[in-house]
Amino acid sequence: MLAGFFVGRYNAGMKWIALFFWLALQLPAAEPLPPEKVNTLIEALGRLDPALVNGNPALKQRLNQVLDAVRGEPRLVGLIKKFKVTGREADLLAVAAGHPNDPAGVEALGMVLGGDEIKSVNALLTGNDPQQAASVARALGNSNNQKVLPLLTPLVTNPKVHANVRKEALKGLANFETGARQILAWAKEGKLPQNATFTASLALSTVRWPDIKAESAKVFPRSPGANAKPLPPVAELIKRKGNVTNGSKIFLRETAACARCHKVGPLGHEVGPALTEIGDKLPKEELYEAIIDPSAGISFGYEAWLVTMKDGNAAFGIIQSETDTELEVKGPTGAVTRHAKVGIKSRQQQPMSLMPPGLHLTIKEEELVDLIEYLASLKKKP
Ligand code: HEC
Repeated sequence: MLAGFFVGRYNAGMKWIALFFWLALQLPAAEPLPPEKVNTLIEALGRLDPALVNGNPALKQRLNQVLDAVRGEPRLVGLIKKFKVTGREADLLAVAAGHPNDPAGVEALGMVLGGDEIKSVNALLTGNDPQQAASVARALGNSNNQKVLPLLTPLVTNPKVHANVRKEALKGLANFETGARQILAWAKEGKLPQNATFTASLALSTVRWPDIKAESAKVFPRSPGANAKPLPPVAELIKRKGNVTNGSKIFLRETAACARCHKVGPLGHEVGPALTEIGDKLPKEELYEAIIDPSAGISFGYEAWLVTMKDGNAAFGIIQSETDTELEVKGPTGAVTRHAKVGIKSRQQQPMSLMPPGLHLTIKEEELVDLIEYLASLKKKP
Protein backbone atom coordinates (compact mmCIF):
# COMPACT_ATOMS: atom_id res chain seq x y z
CA MET A 1 0.00 0.00 0.00
CA LEU A 2 2.72 2.38 1.02
CA ALA A 3 4.91 1.36 -1.92
CA GLY A 4 1.99 1.97 -4.25
CA PHE A 5 1.63 5.45 -2.92
CA PHE A 6 5.24 6.26 -3.65
CA VAL A 7 5.15 4.75 -7.11
CA GLY A 8 2.16 6.87 -8.00
CA ARG A 9 3.53 10.11 -6.75
CA TYR A 10 7.24 10.11 -7.37
CA ASN A 11 9.69 9.12 -10.02
CA ALA A 12 11.59 5.88 -9.55
CA GLY A 13 14.58 7.48 -7.80
CA MET A 14 12.39 9.23 -5.29
CA LYS A 15 10.58 6.01 -4.58
CA TRP A 16 13.75 4.32 -3.40
CA ILE A 17 14.83 7.23 -1.25
CA ALA A 18 11.44 7.23 0.35
CA LEU A 19 11.43 3.46 0.85
CA PHE A 20 14.87 3.56 2.39
CA PHE A 21 13.88 6.34 4.80
CA TRP A 22 10.71 4.57 5.67
CA LEU A 23 12.46 1.26 6.37
CA ALA A 24 15.21 3.02 8.23
CA LEU A 25 12.73 4.80 10.50
CA GLN A 26 11.02 1.55 11.43
CA LEU A 27 14.21 0.14 12.92
CA PRO A 28 15.98 0.97 16.18
CA ALA A 29 19.32 2.60 15.38
CA ALA A 30 21.43 0.81 17.97
CA GLU A 31 20.43 -2.80 17.33
CA PRO A 32 21.59 -5.20 14.65
CA LEU A 33 19.27 -5.26 11.64
CA PRO A 34 16.90 -8.21 11.27
CA PRO A 35 18.13 -10.31 8.32
CA GLU A 36 14.90 -9.96 6.32
CA LYS A 37 15.27 -6.17 6.37
CA VAL A 38 18.89 -6.28 5.23
CA ASN A 39 18.02 -7.47 1.72
CA THR A 40 15.47 -4.75 1.20
CA LEU A 41 17.82 -2.09 2.52
CA ILE A 42 20.62 -3.28 0.24
CA GLU A 43 18.30 -3.19 -2.72
CA ALA A 44 17.26 0.36 -1.81
CA LEU A 45 20.88 1.41 -1.23
CA GLY A 46 21.75 0.07 -4.67
CA ARG A 47 19.55 2.74 -6.19
CA LEU A 48 20.47 5.68 -3.99
CA ASP A 49 22.89 8.41 -4.87
CA PRO A 50 26.05 8.03 -2.70
CA ALA A 51 26.26 11.81 -2.17
CA LEU A 52 22.78 11.82 -0.69
CA VAL A 53 23.52 8.99 1.76
CA ASN A 54 26.95 10.29 2.75
CA GLY A 55 25.54 13.77 3.29
CA ASN A 56 22.84 12.67 5.68
CA PRO A 57 23.94 11.41 9.12
CA ALA A 58 20.82 9.29 9.69
CA LEU A 59 21.16 7.55 6.34
CA LYS A 60 24.86 7.09 6.86
CA GLN A 61 24.22 5.41 10.16
CA ARG A 62 21.80 3.02 8.43
CA LEU A 63 24.41 2.30 5.81
CA ASN A 64 26.88 1.39 8.54
CA GLN A 65 24.34 -0.90 10.17
CA VAL A 66 23.82 -2.64 6.85
CA LEU A 67 27.60 -3.02 6.43
CA ASP A 68 27.85 -4.57 9.89
CA ALA A 69 25.03 -6.95 9.02
CA VAL A 70 26.81 -8.30 5.92
CA ARG A 71 30.32 -8.52 7.37
CA GLY A 72 32.36 -11.25 5.67
CA GLU A 73 29.89 -11.54 2.78
CA PRO A 74 30.83 -10.74 -0.85
CA ARG A 75 28.01 -8.18 -1.13
CA LEU A 76 29.78 -5.98 1.41
CA VAL A 77 32.35 -5.12 -1.24
CA GLY A 78 29.98 -3.46 -3.70
CA LEU A 79 28.49 -1.31 -0.96
CA ILE A 80 31.86 -0.13 0.33
CA LYS A 81 32.89 0.66 -3.23
CA LYS A 82 29.75 2.51 -4.18
CA PHE A 83 29.61 4.65 -1.04
CA LYS A 84 33.41 5.10 -0.82
CA VAL A 85 33.35 4.00 2.82
CA THR A 86 36.71 4.30 4.59
CA GLY A 87 38.14 2.48 7.61
CA ARG A 88 36.69 -0.93 6.68
CA GLU A 89 39.97 -2.58 5.61
CA ALA A 90 39.60 -5.41 8.12
CA ASP A 91 36.12 -6.20 6.78
CA LEU A 92 37.37 -6.14 3.20
CA LEU A 93 40.21 -8.49 4.08
CA ALA A 94 37.76 -10.83 5.77
CA VAL A 95 35.83 -11.08 2.48
CA ALA A 96 39.08 -11.58 0.57
CA ALA A 97 40.19 -14.31 2.96
CA GLY A 98 36.81 -16.06 2.99
CA HIS A 99 36.31 -15.88 -0.78
CA PRO A 100 39.81 -15.89 -2.30
CA ASN A 101 38.59 -17.20 -5.68
CA ASP A 102 35.48 -15.04 -5.94
CA PRO A 103 35.59 -11.80 -7.96
CA ALA A 104 34.23 -9.93 -4.92
CA GLY A 105 37.05 -11.31 -2.74
CA VAL A 106 39.68 -10.37 -5.29
CA GLU A 107 38.14 -6.93 -5.70
CA ALA A 108 38.05 -6.42 -1.92
CA LEU A 109 41.76 -7.07 -1.81
CA GLY A 110 42.38 -4.68 -4.66
CA MET A 111 40.58 -1.98 -2.70
CA VAL A 112 42.76 -2.57 0.37
CA LEU A 113 45.92 -2.60 -1.75
CA GLY A 114 44.80 0.59 -3.43
CA GLY A 115 44.54 2.36 -0.07
CA ASP A 116 47.29 2.94 2.43
CA GLU A 117 46.49 0.17 4.88
CA ILE A 118 48.96 -2.37 3.51
CA LYS A 119 50.36 -2.76 7.02
CA SER A 120 47.14 -4.44 8.12
CA VAL A 121 47.62 -7.04 5.37
CA ASN A 122 51.11 -7.86 6.56
CA ALA A 123 49.87 -8.26 10.11
CA LEU A 124 47.38 -10.89 8.94
CA LEU A 125 49.99 -12.74 6.84
CA THR A 126 52.44 -13.09 9.70
CA GLY A 127 49.88 -13.27 12.51
CA ASN A 128 49.19 -16.38 14.56
CA ASP A 129 46.21 -17.65 12.58
CA PRO A 130 47.82 -19.71 9.77
CA GLN A 131 44.49 -20.60 8.21
CA GLN A 132 43.52 -16.97 7.82
CA ALA A 133 47.05 -16.10 6.70
CA ALA A 134 46.90 -18.80 4.00
CA SER A 135 43.56 -17.46 2.75
CA VAL A 136 44.85 -13.89 2.61
CA ALA A 137 48.01 -15.09 0.81
CA ARG A 138 45.86 -16.95 -1.72
CA ALA A 139 43.71 -13.86 -2.27
CA LEU A 140 46.86 -11.76 -2.76
CA GLY A 141 48.27 -14.22 -5.27
CA ASN A 142 45.04 -14.15 -7.23
CA SER A 143 44.84 -10.38 -7.38
CA ASN A 144 46.78 -9.76 -10.62
CA ASN A 145 48.14 -6.72 -8.82
CA GLN A 146 51.91 -6.36 -8.66
CA LYS A 147 51.69 -4.53 -5.36
CA VAL A 148 51.40 -7.92 -3.67
CA LEU A 149 54.94 -8.99 -4.64
CA PRO A 150 56.70 -7.40 -1.65
CA LEU A 151 54.06 -8.93 0.63
CA LEU A 152 54.34 -12.49 -0.70
CA THR A 153 58.09 -12.71 -1.39
CA PRO A 154 59.34 -12.71 2.23
CA LEU A 155 56.86 -15.46 3.19
CA VAL A 156 58.62 -18.11 1.09
CA THR A 157 61.98 -18.07 2.80
CA ASN A 158 60.86 -17.10 6.29
CA PRO A 159 61.25 -20.31 8.37
CA LYS A 160 58.57 -19.18 10.84
CA VAL A 161 55.86 -19.14 8.20
CA HIS A 162 53.39 -22.06 8.21
CA ALA A 163 53.86 -24.49 5.28
CA ASN A 164 50.36 -23.78 3.94
CA VAL A 165 50.98 -20.04 3.91
CA ARG A 166 54.25 -20.63 2.07
CA LYS A 167 52.46 -22.79 -0.51
CA GLU A 168 49.92 -20.08 -1.22
CA ALA A 169 52.67 -17.48 -1.44
CA LEU A 170 54.53 -19.60 -4.00
CA LYS A 171 51.44 -20.22 -6.12
CA GLY A 172 50.67 -16.52 -5.99
CA LEU A 173 54.18 -15.41 -6.90
CA ALA A 174 54.14 -17.72 -9.94
CA ASN A 175 51.31 -15.58 -11.37
CA PHE A 176 53.79 -12.75 -11.88
CA GLU A 177 56.84 -12.82 -14.09
CA THR A 178 59.09 -11.26 -11.43
CA GLY A 179 57.71 -13.72 -8.90
CA ALA A 180 58.20 -16.75 -11.15
CA ARG A 181 61.80 -15.71 -11.88
CA GLN A 182 62.38 -15.29 -8.16
CA ILE A 183 61.15 -18.83 -7.47
CA LEU A 184 63.48 -20.17 -10.15
CA ALA A 185 66.38 -18.26 -8.63
CA TRP A 186 65.66 -19.62 -5.15
CA ALA A 187 65.50 -23.14 -6.55
CA LYS A 188 68.86 -22.75 -8.28
CA GLU A 189 70.47 -21.32 -5.17
CA GLY A 190 69.03 -24.12 -3.03
CA LYS A 191 67.07 -21.62 -0.97
CA LEU A 192 63.63 -23.19 -1.34
CA PRO A 193 62.53 -25.06 1.77
CA GLN A 194 62.27 -28.82 1.11
CA ASN A 195 58.50 -28.95 1.57
CA ALA A 196 58.02 -26.19 -0.99
CA THR A 197 59.79 -27.83 -3.92
CA PHE A 198 56.82 -29.70 -5.31
CA THR A 199 54.46 -26.70 -5.06
CA ALA A 200 57.09 -24.56 -6.74
CA SER A 201 57.67 -26.97 -9.63
CA LEU A 202 53.95 -27.42 -10.26
CA ALA A 203 53.32 -23.69 -10.07
CA LEU A 204 56.08 -22.97 -12.56
CA SER A 205 54.77 -25.67 -14.93
CA THR A 206 51.63 -23.59 -15.57
CA VAL A 207 53.28 -20.18 -16.09
CA ARG A 208 52.94 -18.37 -19.39
CA TRP A 209 56.62 -17.54 -19.94
CA PRO A 210 58.10 -20.37 -22.06
CA ASP A 211 61.70 -19.74 -20.97
CA ILE A 212 60.78 -19.98 -17.28
CA LYS A 213 58.76 -23.13 -17.93
CA ALA A 214 61.62 -24.73 -19.83
CA GLU A 215 64.22 -23.83 -17.25
CA SER A 216 62.05 -24.98 -14.39
CA ALA A 217 61.71 -28.43 -16.01
CA LYS A 218 65.52 -28.68 -15.82
CA VAL A 219 65.89 -27.30 -12.30
CA PHE A 220 63.25 -29.47 -10.66
CA PRO A 221 63.92 -33.19 -10.77
CA ARG A 222 60.85 -35.27 -11.66
CA SER A 223 58.78 -36.49 -8.73
CA PRO A 224 59.52 -39.98 -7.33
CA GLY A 225 56.59 -41.62 -9.18
CA ALA A 226 58.03 -40.55 -12.49
CA ASN A 227 58.75 -43.20 -15.04
CA ALA A 228 62.19 -42.93 -16.51
CA LYS A 229 61.65 -44.97 -19.64
CA PRO A 230 59.86 -43.42 -22.59
CA LEU A 231 56.18 -44.29 -23.05
CA PRO A 232 55.22 -46.94 -25.60
CA PRO A 233 53.28 -45.54 -28.57
CA VAL A 234 49.68 -44.54 -27.83
CA ALA A 235 48.45 -47.15 -30.33
CA GLU A 236 49.90 -49.80 -28.03
CA LEU A 237 48.75 -48.20 -24.77
CA ILE A 238 45.10 -48.13 -25.85
CA LYS A 239 45.11 -51.93 -26.12
CA ARG A 240 45.83 -52.32 -22.41
CA LYS A 241 43.13 -52.68 -19.80
CA GLY A 242 43.54 -50.53 -16.70
CA ASN A 243 41.96 -50.52 -13.25
CA VAL A 244 39.16 -47.95 -12.92
CA THR A 245 39.20 -47.73 -9.12
CA ASN A 246 42.93 -47.16 -9.04
CA GLY A 247 42.59 -44.63 -11.85
CA SER A 248 40.07 -42.63 -9.84
CA LYS A 249 42.58 -42.42 -6.98
CA ILE A 250 45.30 -41.17 -9.30
CA PHE A 251 42.93 -38.52 -10.62
CA LEU A 252 42.59 -37.18 -7.08
CA ARG A 253 46.29 -37.49 -6.21
CA GLU A 254 47.86 -34.13 -5.52
CA THR A 255 50.97 -34.74 -7.61
CA ALA A 256 48.91 -35.59 -10.70
CA ALA A 257 46.95 -32.38 -10.12
CA CYS A 258 43.95 -33.34 -12.32
CA ALA A 259 41.36 -32.46 -9.67
CA ARG A 260 42.88 -29.02 -9.25
CA CYS A 261 41.47 -28.11 -12.63
CA HIS A 262 38.76 -30.63 -13.48
CA LYS A 263 35.53 -31.68 -11.92
CA VAL A 264 34.16 -35.20 -12.02
CA GLY A 265 30.67 -34.94 -10.56
CA PRO A 266 30.97 -32.93 -7.37
CA LEU A 267 34.71 -33.57 -6.89
CA GLY A 268 37.50 -31.26 -8.01
CA HIS A 269 37.73 -27.66 -9.18
CA GLU A 270 36.49 -26.07 -12.35
CA VAL A 271 39.31 -24.50 -14.34
CA GLY A 272 39.24 -26.76 -17.38
CA PRO A 273 36.14 -28.54 -18.70
CA ALA A 274 34.26 -30.95 -16.42
CA LEU A 275 35.21 -34.54 -17.18
CA THR A 276 32.03 -36.11 -15.77
CA GLU A 277 31.08 -37.51 -19.21
CA ILE A 278 34.45 -37.39 -20.96
CA GLY A 279 34.23 -41.12 -21.81
CA ASP A 280 31.36 -40.29 -24.18
CA LYS A 281 33.28 -37.48 -25.82
CA LEU A 282 36.81 -38.74 -26.34
CA PRO A 283 38.11 -42.21 -27.33
CA LYS A 284 41.08 -43.54 -25.36
CA GLU A 285 43.52 -42.43 -27.99
CA GLU A 286 42.44 -38.80 -27.67
CA LEU A 287 42.38 -39.05 -23.89
CA TYR A 288 46.07 -40.00 -24.00
CA GLU A 289 46.79 -37.11 -26.32
CA ALA A 290 44.89 -34.65 -24.13
CA ILE A 291 47.25 -35.50 -21.26
CA ILE A 292 50.55 -36.02 -23.06
CA ASP A 293 50.26 -32.96 -25.28
CA PRO A 294 47.51 -30.64 -24.01
CA SER A 295 48.30 -27.83 -26.44
CA ALA A 296 47.73 -30.10 -29.49
CA GLY A 297 43.98 -29.54 -29.34
CA ILE A 298 42.41 -26.96 -27.08
CA SER A 299 38.75 -27.36 -26.12
CA PHE A 300 36.55 -24.59 -27.45
CA GLY A 301 35.90 -21.89 -24.84
CA TYR A 302 38.92 -22.94 -22.78
CA GLU A 303 41.60 -21.10 -24.71
CA ALA A 304 44.09 -19.20 -22.59
CA TRP A 305 44.28 -15.42 -22.93
CA LEU A 306 46.67 -12.77 -21.75
CA VAL A 307 44.85 -9.57 -20.85
CA THR A 308 47.13 -6.61 -20.35
CA MET A 309 45.92 -3.62 -18.37
CA LYS A 310 46.82 0.02 -18.94
CA ASP A 311 48.24 0.22 -15.39
CA GLY A 312 50.85 -2.44 -16.24
CA ASN A 313 49.09 -5.35 -14.52
CA ALA A 314 48.06 -8.43 -16.45
CA ALA A 315 45.64 -11.33 -16.11
CA PHE A 316 46.25 -14.78 -17.62
CA GLY A 317 43.59 -17.42 -18.04
CA ILE A 318 40.29 -18.37 -19.60
CA ILE A 319 37.79 -15.62 -20.40
CA GLN A 320 34.92 -16.76 -18.26
CA SER A 321 32.42 -14.07 -19.15
CA GLU A 322 32.21 -10.76 -20.88
CA THR A 323 29.76 -7.86 -20.80
CA ASP A 324 29.86 -4.47 -22.53
CA THR A 325 31.91 -3.04 -19.69
CA GLU A 326 33.67 -5.93 -17.95
CA LEU A 327 35.72 -9.05 -18.50
CA GLU A 328 36.08 -11.96 -16.08
CA VAL A 329 39.28 -13.99 -16.30
CA LYS A 330 39.75 -17.38 -14.62
CA GLY A 331 43.41 -18.15 -13.92
CA PRO A 332 45.18 -21.52 -13.64
CA THR A 333 44.39 -21.64 -9.90
CA GLY A 334 40.66 -21.20 -10.50
CA ALA A 335 40.58 -17.64 -9.20
CA VAL A 336 38.38 -15.22 -11.10
CA THR A 337 39.33 -11.58 -11.52
CA ARG A 338 37.09 -8.89 -12.96
CA HIS A 339 38.46 -6.12 -15.15
CA ALA A 340 36.76 -2.97 -16.41
CA LYS A 341 37.15 -2.81 -20.16
CA VAL A 342 38.19 0.84 -20.06
CA GLY A 343 41.32 -0.24 -18.16
CA ILE A 344 42.31 -2.94 -20.66
CA LYS A 345 45.09 -2.23 -23.13
CA SER A 346 45.14 -5.46 -25.11
CA ARG A 347 44.17 -9.11 -25.10
CA GLN A 348 45.97 -11.88 -26.89
CA GLN A 349 45.05 -15.51 -27.24
CA GLN A 350 47.87 -17.81 -26.17
CA PRO A 351 49.01 -20.74 -28.31
CA MET A 352 49.39 -23.11 -25.38
CA SER A 353 46.83 -24.78 -23.18
CA LEU A 354 46.38 -23.75 -19.58
CA MET A 355 46.83 -27.44 -18.82
CA PRO A 356 50.52 -28.14 -18.15
CA PRO A 357 52.30 -30.64 -20.40
CA GLY A 358 54.15 -33.59 -18.91
CA LEU A 359 51.72 -34.49 -16.13
CA HIS A 360 51.93 -38.12 -17.30
CA LEU A 361 55.57 -38.05 -16.22
CA THR A 362 54.53 -37.62 -12.58
CA ILE A 363 52.88 -41.06 -12.55
CA LYS A 364 53.98 -44.59 -13.47
CA GLU A 365 53.14 -46.11 -16.84
CA GLU A 366 50.60 -48.57 -15.33
CA GLU A 367 49.06 -45.70 -13.42
CA LEU A 368 48.59 -43.74 -16.62
CA VAL A 369 46.79 -46.75 -18.11
CA ASP A 370 44.55 -46.89 -15.01
CA LEU A 371 43.86 -43.14 -15.21
CA ILE A 372 42.80 -43.44 -18.85
CA GLU A 373 40.62 -46.45 -18.06
CA TYR A 374 38.94 -44.37 -15.38
CA LEU A 375 38.41 -41.38 -17.71
CA ALA A 376 37.04 -43.67 -20.43
CA SER A 377 34.55 -45.09 -17.90
CA LEU A 378 33.07 -41.64 -17.17
CA LYS A 379 29.88 -41.72 -19.17
CA LYS A 380 26.35 -40.37 -19.02
CA LYS A 381 24.24 -42.39 -16.64
CA PRO A 382 21.88 -44.58 -18.72
C1 HEC B 1 46.22 -26.12 -14.57
C2 HEC B 1 44.97 -26.74 -14.87
C3 HEC B 1 44.89 -28.15 -15.40
C4 HEC B 1 45.43 -29.31 -14.87
C5 HEC B 1 46.36 -29.43 -13.66
C6 HEC B 1 44.94 -30.40 -15.67
N1 HEC B 1 44.15 -29.92 -16.66
FE1 HEC B 1 43.22 -31.02 -18.12
N2 HEC B 1 42.62 -29.29 -19.02
C7 HEC B 1 42.78 -28.01 -18.53
C8 HEC B 1 42.22 -27.07 -19.47
C9 HEC B 1 42.18 -25.54 -19.31
C10 HEC B 1 41.71 -27.80 -20.55
C11 HEC B 1 41.00 -27.26 -21.79
C12 HEC B 1 42.03 -26.77 -22.77
C13 HEC B 1 42.65 -27.89 -23.51
O1 HEC B 1 41.89 -28.66 -24.13
O2 HEC B 1 43.88 -28.01 -23.46
C14 HEC B 1 41.97 -29.22 -20.23
C15 HEC B 1 41.60 -30.29 -21.02
C16 HEC B 1 41.63 -31.62 -20.64
C17 HEC B 1 41.03 -32.73 -21.37
C18 HEC B 1 40.23 -32.60 -22.67
C19 HEC B 1 38.81 -32.25 -22.28
C20 HEC B 1 37.85 -32.08 -23.41
O3 HEC B 1 36.65 -31.86 -23.12
O4 HEC B 1 38.26 -32.13 -24.58
C21 HEC B 1 41.27 -33.87 -20.65
C22 HEC B 1 40.82 -35.28 -20.98
C23 HEC B 1 42.04 -33.48 -19.47
N3 HEC B 1 42.23 -32.11 -19.52
C24 HEC B 1 42.47 -34.36 -18.49
C25 HEC B 1 43.32 -34.00 -17.45
C26 HEC B 1 43.94 -34.95 -16.54
C27 HEC B 1 43.70 -36.46 -16.56
C28 HEC B 1 44.73 -34.23 -15.70
C29 HEC B 1 45.66 -34.77 -14.63
C30 HEC B 1 46.72 -35.66 -15.10
C31 HEC B 1 44.60 -32.81 -16.06
N4 HEC B 1 43.73 -32.73 -17.11
C32 HEC B 1 45.23 -31.75 -15.42
C33 HEC B 1 43.39 -27.67 -17.35
C34 HEC B 1 44.10 -28.55 -16.54
